[in-house]
Amino acid sequence: MNKKTAPALEIVSVSKSFKEKRRTLPVLSDISLTVGQGEFVSIIGPSGSGKSTLLHVIGGLTRPDAGTVRMNGAEVTGQQGHISYMPQQPALFPWRTIEDNVLLAQEVHGPVSREAREDARRWLAKVGLAGFEKAHPHTLSGGMQQRAAFLRALLSPQELMCLDEPFSALDALTRSDMQRWLLDIWEENRRSVLFITHNIEEALLLSSRIYVFSSRPAAVLHAIDVPFPRPRREEVTEAPEFLQLKRQLSEWMREEQRKMQAAQQGGSRQ
Ligand SMILES: Nc1ncnc2c1ncn2[C@@H]1O[C@H](COP(=O)(O)OP(=O)(O)OP(=O)(O)O)[C@@H](O)[C@H]1O
Ligand SMILES: [Mg+2]
Repeated sequence: MNKKTAPALEIVSVSKSFKEKRRTLPVLSDISLTVGQGEFVSIIGPSGSGKSTLLHVIGGLTRPDAGTVRMNGAEVTGQQGHISYMPQQPALFPWRTIEDNVLLAQEVHGPVSREAREDARRWLAKVGLAGFEKAHPHTLSGGMQQRAAFLRALLSPQELMCLDEPFSALDALTRSDMQRWLLDIWEENRRSVLFITHNIEEALLLSSRIYVFSSRPAAVLHAIDVPFPRPRREEVTEAPEFLQLKRQLSEWMREEQRKMQAAQQGGSRQ
């Protein structure tokens, strides 16, 4: 397959267990999924199922026990530097200003131009961080840090963006603004995105496809195509088909959560 027709990301039969002292904790069980070129794909699944671990595998931070990761048709299993990544914990460098944190990925690729710096400032203003360009991360709230980390991923040059619950620390109104805004930028630029969220409505609003993960060890339970045409507007969240999909996804999630709780109450943390 050549670069143009190959999917942005293909995960093929990835499994991973963590070995601790005398026990083995299976976390990913034979996961296969695809993000096509310019597709917005989400993963939802119970807490502790293995979603962040999968992103670590994709980003080359964790080696899988089995399976492969391919990007644009080339195998990249275990390799770093291929994705623009926003980890679940914002992970800003405390000694760098907000602006320098946002520009980090560009800096790694060479000197930062004046245009790039001006562009970063414009984006900071758009996400409500005007006036904080020269501030250091510890002087910002958790939600503000999350927005800065999100911008850093957005402005990174790699084509595939992997976002791990990017809006979880935001209040409902800011979250809704950020969703609206992400939807607009994505519809303009069509970058390939793999997005993790616990929020079913957010996944339905933004995604072209949603993978539903089981409780640990995570397996793909369902892959659903989200049929609503683009450009999407928030009104779509009131459509009967949207509400029906939301009910179905909520039911699957509740079922998985019940299984997870039952396993924990059974005295097994495995
Ligand atoms: N480096 C590690 N060593 C040992 N166990 C780990 C390691 N990383 C993750 N785990 C375990 O793997 C399981 C899955 O963790 P992971 O962070 O992938 O879950 P998650 O689906 O992202 O959860 P959440 O929705 O709460 O973020 C957890 O039980 C966690 O304790
Ligand atoms: Mg996680």
